[in-house]
Amino acid sequence: MKQENKPVHGMWANRWVFILAATGSAVGLGNIWRFPYITGENGGGAFVLLYLLCIAVVGVPIMAAEVMIGRKGGMSPINSMRKLALDSKVSQRWSGIGHMGVLSAFLILSFYSVVASWALYYVWESVIGGFQGITAAESGARFDALLADPWLMMGCHTLFMVLTMVVVGRGVKGGLEKAVEILMPLLFVLLVVLVGYAATTPGFKQGVSFLFAFDFSKLNGQAVITAVGQAFFTLSLGMGAIMAYGAYMPRETVGKKGGKPQPVSIMSTVIIIALLDTLVALGSGVAMFPLTFSNGLEVGQGPGMMFVTLPLAFGQMPGGVLFGTLFFVLVVSAAWSSSISLGEPVVAWLVERGLGRGKAAALVGLGAWLLGIGSVLSFNLWKDHTFLVGTFFDNVEFLSTTVMLPLGGVLIAIFAGWVMKETHARKELAMKSFPLYLVWRALVRIFSPAAVIALFTYTIWKMVF
Ligand code: PFF
Ligand code: NA
Repeated sequence: MKQENKPVHGMWANRWVFILAATGSAVGLGNIWRFPYITGENGGGAFVLLYLLCIAVVGVPIMAAEVMIGRKGGMSPINSMRKLALDSKVSQRWSGIGHMGVLSAFLILSFYSVVASWALYYVWESVIGGFQGITAAESGARFDALLADPWLMMGCHTLFMVLTMVVVGRGVKGGLEKAVEILMPLLFVLLVVLVGYAATTPGFKQGVSFLFAFDFSKLNGQAVITAVGQAFFTLSLGMGAIMAYGAYMPRETVGKKGGKPQPVSIMSTVIIIALLDTLVALGSGVAMFPLTFSNGLEVGQGPGMMFVTLPLAFGQMPGGVLFGTLFFVLVVSAAWSSSISLGEPVVAWLVERGLGRGKAAALVGLGAWLLGIGSVLSFNLWKDHTFLVGTFFDNVEFLSTTVMLPLGGVLIAIFAGWVMKETHARKELAMKSFPLYLVWRALVRIFSPAAVIALFTYTIWKMVF
């Protein structure tokens, strides 16, 4: 059968390649770096439960909505939405959601590259055996020394941004597909090794119960908002990355010899991606918290957590140089496949506007790189320069992750549930179970928007009064 709206940017070979690419986008710093440290800052168990809830009832339905809109539109998020708005005879202003997504992508890419580049530096540290026999205090000091050096950080940030935009410039299909195929399984194996190591440390029980003991007295509005933001961030939702990847997703499987092609189910695909992402986040927590307790470190130590606790493990375990190096290589790869998906929707849009892919990638990379300098300096020269929620870095992270992603996600949900023609949505989703389809529809039409808007109102209320 011929493909409606053949996408201009290319197509994934099959459903599994889409799963790989979307998982590559989802699994990244959000799981290994951000999830453990915000869980630490928000008191553990109850926050984790809340986060899981957000993934299930807000994340998965909105992810399905994004893939559906993308596959139906077949273009960059901005133009896919413009097209569907036209089809549904509503104002093309709805494509403004896509413009906001582009802005979010830009903001996230700028600081994402900076954090990923710390991991890049840690590859080097591991290779030279820098973690061997290190103490907790030394590990903290080593990380602080990196942060205090703006030139070193600038160098690493530049390198990571170039790596990202080179791949986006060449089109995602060529190199990345193959890289992720090998790297993702390896990442899972290494996480298991780290969890196994953590299990041998004295703080294991305490670490695990910190993650899974639900003490709701520690929850407040801020924690709830953070959990919602994290659900969007970790699944790459709310700014069009998954929508852009969805545009390259095939509608039907390639039929085996003699067999008929089967429709590719969006919902089951999305659930697989969300499960894999959740597994990596929880695995990272189970690896890191026992080490935190075993070494008498603070659970609420913030963004440095991964870079301070894990080197301790690598410094003590047999084969630590090898495992440490492998681990940070994989963190960089995971971050890389995510940052590529941050660049893709923006670049795809510029390409649709007539720019060459290479030029578009260079332009986007340059912009995000420049903005990223602000994040680099937030850890040294501008450290004491705080406003609103903290440093420049804190503000960019908060605005994009905690405010813009949930807002974008809700608008996408409203678009999928209220604006888009129902017959289109239903046909594109092609769910086998009608009751389950109704659940999805209720979640994107009512529950997700209401929940997120209520939370925002509450938090703003608390901030003002
Ligand atoms: N999901 C990525 C992570 O967890 O690291 C981050 C991310 C990638 C967010 C792409 C948003 C996005 F569009
Ligand atoms: Na993630």
